[in-house]
Amino acid sequence: MSSLEALAERRARLHGPELDALNAVVSDWQILADLSFSDLLLFARDHEADALVVVAQIRPYTAPTIYQEDLVGTVLSPRERPAVARSLDEGVIVRDGDPDWSSGVPVREEAIPLSFDGRTIAVVSREANLSMVRAPSQLELTYLQAADELSQMLADGEFPLPGHRSDHELAPRVGDGLVRIDPAGTVIYASPNAMSAYRRLGVSGAVMGRNLGDFDLDDEAIVEALADGEPLESEVEARGTVVLRRLIPITRGHRVLGGLMLVREVTELRRHERLLLYKDATIREIHHRVKNNLQTVASLLRLQSRRLASAEVREALSESVRRISSIALVHETLSQDSGQRVAFDKVAHRLIDMVTQGLTDQDRPVQMRLEGTAGELSAEVATPLALVLSELLQNAVEHGFADRGGEVVVQFDRRTSALHLAVVDDGVGVDEGWDVVTDANLGLQIAMTLVESELGGTLDVERVGAHGGTRAVALLPAPAASTI
Ligand SMILES: Nc1ncnc2c1ncn2[C@@H]1O[C@H](COP(=O)(O)OP(=O)(O)OP(=O)(O)O)[C@@H](O)[C@H]1O
Ligand SMILES: [Mg+2]
Repeated sequence: MSSLEALAERRARLHGPELDALNAVVSDWQILADLSFSDLLLFARDHEADALVVVAQIRPYTAPTIYQEDLVGTVLSPRERPAVARSLDEGVIVRDGDPDWSSGVPVREEAIPLSFDGRTIAVVSREANLSMVRAPSQLELTYLQAADELSQMLADGEFPLPGHRSDHELAPRVGDGLVRIDPAGTVIYASPNAMSAYRRLGVSGAVMGRNLGDFDLDDEAIVEALADGEPLESEVEARGTVVLRRLIPITRGHRVLGGLMLVREVTELRRHERLLLYKDATIREIHHRVKNNLQTVASLLRLQSRRLASAEVREALSESVRRISSIALVHETLSQDSGQRVAFDKVAHRLIDMVTQGLTDQDRPVQMRLEGTAGELSAEVATPLALVLSELLQNAVEHGFADRGGEVVVQFDRRTSALHLAVVDDGVGVDEGWDVVTDANLGLQIAMTLVESELGGTLDVERVGAHGGTRAVALLPAPAASTI
């Protein structure tokens, strides 16, 4: 629950749809703060203290803030904020005549009531620092007029429009570019940034005084939406420039008085996104090729081993084929998923399949299953870990079940940030007193080296249970197992 909801629920006793209404306002009120060069405070009635409580606050991007400190949660008496108190009681917009000096600078305050179901539930206080007021240019006059219109819409419940919010990353802001249009879609005013955006889109000559429909930028949809009083967000690309436009119809009693259009050039952003997508695709392609190459190497070794007379050498080559194939598996997984992380469970399943397929004796069935989840691992961790798992699985079927069937369980445990990998079999078990450091052959030596030097972890292999069986445990510390 946000602090707004918590405060409004506990102190102002507002619930459900009332909270939704307040949330909708604060999700889109940055534009009002920016257009009015004002700090905005959202006040509600504090039932406990018979006072006013600030439940949300926002600062303008277009002017210095009045309030350095965070005021959310502050309780004020109605006497300290007479305009807010009156607006809350009477449900009308209240403009304070004289500037208030209590914060050290002259502040002009305007209280806008927010009603729900015919009842005033909160008040937005628009607070402008008068010491910062400049000689009004057309930009400022346009901003302020639009701010007044939005304030009125706020009080009438016509702004924000349902489903539209500006608190997402790409949302155009007032400072990105503002276009004021009349109900027919003719540009009355375009801020300098908005003009630059239109220039880059290829609009030559005047922007002001022309209809949006004349620009040949698919603006007809905007003009239509405006006529219907509907908000619209659309993107246009021309001459290598990408511009995002957000239309906010200005309405009064649902009659369209005109529109505000926020315009943001997002060429660089989109270019970046495309580049990232392209890079992603390239990286996947490379993993795909590495996988293919490794599979070719494995096939070559397999071909060669068929020509060899010595069973021992053939065995050694087939071990190498398995190791190379384990690495290829990780690259294959990386070539399918976007990003540089591997869903390691997938790799583990494939390794289990691979080792199971290598089993030939139907009389000694070995069941393998996976418990828990490894989550996503970086490629640097996944590759050595796949090799380790492959060695442990191979050992279980090769040594544990040399003369019987049984079960192998692969367990992943990520409850802590470390990763715990255990391969447990109920086979014959390593001998009593067997020690991984002194008794390992090549397979476990490889596994040990990878776990200790590549992954910074530990590997233990021990006999378990009264009837034998082996448990091999690799413990990877948090940094190696980290998914980031
Ligand atoms: N799950 C297991 N059950 C029974 N014995 C095991 C198990 N894992 C390992 N061992 C014993 O440990 C020895 C060393 O294993 P290691 O993987 O290092 O070498 P290897 O399997 O003999 O040869 P390589 O893996 O190089 O082909 C094995 O020969 C076997 O005796
Ligand atoms: Mg082995």
